[in-house]
Amino acid sequence: MVITNYKGISFKSPKEDSTVYIPAEDSHLIAECALFEANEIMKKNKEKEQRFDFNCDNSKSIENAFEAFSILELGTGSGFVSRVVKKGLVESVKENDYKYEIKSYATDINPDAVNHAISNGVDAYLADIFTPIQNNDYNKENNNNNDKNKNNHDKNKNSFEKILENKFDMILFNPPYLPTKEDEKIPGNLNYAFDGGIDGRKVIVPFLKEVGHHLKENGFFLLLISSMTGLGQVAEEMKKNGFSCTIVAIQKFPFERIIVIKGKKLGNNEDFVIKEELIQNI
Ligand SMILES: C[S@@+](CC[C@H](N)C(=O)[O-])C[C@H]1O[C@@H](n2cnc3c(N)ncnc32)[C@H](O)[C@@H]1O
Repeated sequence: MVITNYKGISFKSPKEDSTVYIPAEDSHLIAECALFEANEIMKKNKEKEQRFDFNCDNSKSIENAFEAFSILELGTGSGFVSRVVKKGLVESVKENDYKYEIKSYATDINPDAVNHAISNGVDAYLADIFTPIQNNDYNKENNNNNDKNKNNHDKNKNSFEKILENKFDMILFNPPYLPTKEDEKIPGNLNYAFDGGIDGRKVIVPFLKEVGHHLKENGFFLLLISSMTGLGQVAEEMKKNGFSCTIVAIQKFPFERIIVIKGKKLGNNEDFVIKEELIQNI
């Protein structure tokens, strides 16, 4: 592991030859968007509370009411995004006196990633999108018969099922988004980080089918894709699953753009439109 620093936050980055994804521009972009979006919500709620305070003068009960802002990151890899977002939001809560407690959880399908994220202080679990992976699968894949590890993973699986009984304010996913042919696959667990299947949407489509069950009524998700993933097709899937589609950030590279999309459950009288908001053409 290599200790790196991102905006004052120290972080154990995977080594070059690791089976865990090394944080890159996509990781930074989704983390920055998550910080921005979550801060906006907390700021707006504080303003609302202040108005309420002023009108009702029952500031005492409000003063003590701490609400949870709960975050779930899927495919956390090294845990970079979860760590940066949680630290950033905890600081923001302190600085701005927001009445929020930040709760943050993460998953990955790659057991090496789960272990790495845990080493970065992230509350991470082994799961395929939202489905906890059976402990025996974990051991089979790792050829690991160590009893202590087995118990830990039993515990993790049960705890993750419990965590999923609650819904989330914000769900983040920087998935494998690149179209990948059979002969382009990478051997070993690192393949999970890149292999988006033949059209780049192998993991995104099931994610969009399930994510609605895990969001609070006003919750939202941020999904990172590439121009190679097919924005039109992803937007179509979002529409099919009853979400709005807002593009919140685009970063340009010579051969592709990476795009962060925000999805929220569409209200009864809302029509599906693709909106562009706060685009940061970085
Ligand atoms: C592009 S990497 C992003 C890693 C990290 N979030 C970041 O931004 O640095 C994609 C991650 O998704 C994980 N992943 C792939 N398929 C998954 C699935 N079905 N369920 C959960 N995680 C998955 C990979 O193992 C990998 O860690």
